[in-house]
Amino acid sequence: MSHSDSRPHTPANDDAADASSRLRAEVADLKARAADHAARALAQQDADRLRIARDLHDTLGQYFTVLALELNTLRREAVAHPAIEAAVARIATLSETARRDVDQLAWEIRPPELNEQGGLARAIPHLLGEWSARTGAVFQSHIAIGTRRFTPVIETTLFRVLQEAIRNVVNHAGATRAGVILQAHDRDLSLTIEDDGVGFDLREEGAMNADDGGGQGLRGARERLALVGGTLEVETTPGRGTTLLIHVPL
Ligand SMILES: Nc1ncnc2c1ncn2[C@@H]1O[C@H](COP(=O)(O)OP(=O)(O)O)[C@@H](O)[C@H]1O
Ligand SMILES: [Mg+2]
Repeated sequence: MSHSDSRPHTPANDDAADASSRLRAEVADLKARAADHAARALAQQDADRLRIARDLHDTLGQYFTVLALELNTLRREAVAHPAIEAAVARIATLSETARRDVDQLAWEIRPPELNEQGGLARAIPHLLGEWSARTGAVFQSHIAIGTRRFTPVIETTLFRVLQEAIRNVVNHAGATRAGVILQAHDRDLSLTIEDDGVGFDLREEGAMNADDGGGQGLRGARERLALVGGTLEVETTPGRGTTLLIHVPL
């Protein structure tokens, strides 16, 4: 029997009990509203990203098409002028690189696979393929979700968290290999990101926020995950790589 149960029911005690249960209800209400607000802010952010990605792709895409046509004309006219021909070839290469970078940027801002067909099973290997090509490190994935799709908020959350995790591998780990495993179970999804890089000391000043490891990036990932009831754990030892363990309930 708890202490409050053993107290006599005087009017004063009843008032105090009322006040405290009102307070608890108000706190719960505030928390629910804060979570709702954060979820809507994220949904708005994702809608904005989708629009920006489409604009980038559509407007700049047209310029690159025209540029390529004009360069072809120039190249034909420049046949008798080796210096001009070489310069045109360099401009064509630069322009092609810029076009690919813009496409990739637009893709990363909002992978179309998350809106259309494919989902995470397509978006994750695409992301890892890009990073492998860009860095020379080997990024492998094992995706055990078949053709299953999840709610847009879950797919977007996992994708954003993975993007942050991969950025950390590239920026901090100095890894030669990294692996990503996504598995669907009856009641939850698990995402594991493992690298063979330098690892870090979770207790080190600056490398963590007070609770359980992580700076802005990892903290942001935890906040995103919390909105879908998910969790993120970090396992790392200096010199022995890093593993992130992520769970999202279904
Ligand atoms: N995969 C990793 N390998 C090595 N160190 C890491 C890794 N991920 C994170 N860290 C360390 O944890 C710190 C916090 O990461 P994060 O929260 O993403 O913030 P940021 O990347 O902005 O520094 C990093 O600065 C780095 O020292
Ligand atoms: Mg980071």
